[in-house]
Amino acid sequence: MANVIIVGAQWGDEGKGKITDLLSRSADVVVRYQGGVNAGHTVVVGDKTFKLHLIPSGILYPETRCVIASGTVIDPEVLLQELDMLEGLGISAANLFVSETAHVTMPYHRLIDRAEEERRGKYRLGTTGRGIGPTYADKSSRVGVRVLDLMDPEGLQAKLNWIIPYKNVLLEKLYDLPPLDPQPIIQDYLAYAERLRPHVVDTGVLLEQAAHARENILFEGAQGTLLDLDHGTYPYVTSSNPVAGGACIGAGVGPTMIDRVIGVAKAYTTRVGEGPFPTELTDETGRLLGERGAEFGTTTGRPRRCGWFDAVIGRYAVRTNGLDCLAVTKLDVLDELTEIKVCVEYRLGDRTIRDFPSDSQILAHCVPVYKTLPGWRSYTGDCQKLSDLPIRALEYLQFLAKEMSTPIAIVSLGAERGQTIIVEDPIHGPKRALLVDSPVGHPLCP
Ligand code: GDP
Ligand code: IMO
Ligand code: MG
Repeated sequence: MANVIIVGAQWGDEGKGKITDLLSRSADVVVRYQGGVNAGHTVVVGDKTFKLHLIPSGILYPETRCVIASGTVIDPEVLLQELDMLEGLGISAANLFVSETAHVTMPYHRLIDRAEEERRGKYRLGTTGRGIGPTYADKSSRVGVRVLDLMDPEGLQAKLNWIIPYKNVLLEKLYDLPPLDPQPIIQDYLAYAERLRPHVVDTGVLLEQAAHARENILFEGAQGTLLDLDHGTYPYVTSSNPVAGGACIGAGVGPTMIDRVIGVAKAYTTRVGEGPFPTELTDETGRLLGERGAEFGTTTGRPRRCGWFDAVIGRYAVRTNGLDCLAVTKLDVLDELTEIKVCVEYRLGDRTIRDFPSDSQILAHCVPVYKTLPGWRSYTGDCQKLSDLPIRALEYLQFLAKEMSTPIAIVSLGAERGQTIIVEDPIHGPKRALLVDSPVGHPLCP
């Protein structure tokens, strides 16, 4: 048995959906522990592409139970659209379980998210506009609506009949928006509640039972390390804790339950929204990465900013999440380049910086120091094992593993399940304690 956390090691969109789907074939339970419909996780199987916002990427395996845990925020309208989409494709969601204590995104959260971005002007964050920040803010302010409230029609009416007028003061006076009528919102949410009711359980009990039965549990992070509210590039972050520690809080399990943590990183870097990005490329190479990598947001369709791989960020992700190993995705996107750069440290004036700075203002002034490696200039999308890779692609991966002092367990070379090299089974293979135990013979071990 192994309980594994899958976490984004950069600014999100690293390919967590693909890696979670891939590893879900050995999982009994897959858990989304934070975030909401700001996430967009893509799973490609044959000619079908699934874009999942809230439903865990294990849903394509009929035997696997999927849990949307307490630490997430749920937009019921989008969740039901996702359920309809899956049903339409003949995929059963009978094994989907939603936590009673997850918070619910309401129409005023979406309105406030967008109005707040507008008010911020040049200080805007570039949010997804899905109401995520305001939903988590209400949770902290203890005026949130939980799934439990949805399950109690009378209680829900009473609650929304005082919260909506209270939010209307904000909407009208602060944002200059028309007030909301509580009645249609109450009716809509009562209808959503009835459709969700069969899925709503105490997911803490479900996970405890799974652990006692020695089942394999996968925890699927949304967003990424640098979007973490506490450990990311604040204020250009999301409002939850994507880092591995967030899995225990969000799912309501103890840290002793976790066996290992896998970081997912692209072979280069992308970011959507505002905020500093030292290795960003605004030139032709940046455009090429965006084009070859089809770098458009899964949720908003916005073009993603692209740049070289940043090992300072990589080392920070290793430290902050306690990564056991890495899954490096989208290596194929680099196939045509004649040379590839990797940022190994930053310069700030006459200082060399190797540890990721906590201050986004400082990060904005950091200049990347690059190591240039030769490209391999050949197609890698059909490589099935490491020995199929061009030697320069292998050397590139070895360089990344060394810079981050972390073994690479999975290499992804395309969106499809089959376009993957499993170097070492990250769930059942031997666990290596970080930096302590680097077995000889592992080709992508530092
Ligand atoms: P997530 O949010 O971390 O799950 O990532 P997204 O799904 O938002 O973005 C990753 C995109 O890259 C999706 O369109 C995937 O289908 C695609 N993808 C994943 N792995 C690979 C890969 O190795 N190569 C290529 N070319 N595309 C990939
Ligand atoms: P997945 O799970 C990439 C970014 C937004 C914005 C910031 C705050 O698909 O990797 P929010 O709406 O959360 O308040 O926006 O976070 N962001 C993501 N970027 N991938 C995501 O999710 C993201 N979820 C939020 O672009 O910069
Ligand atoms: Mg995404």
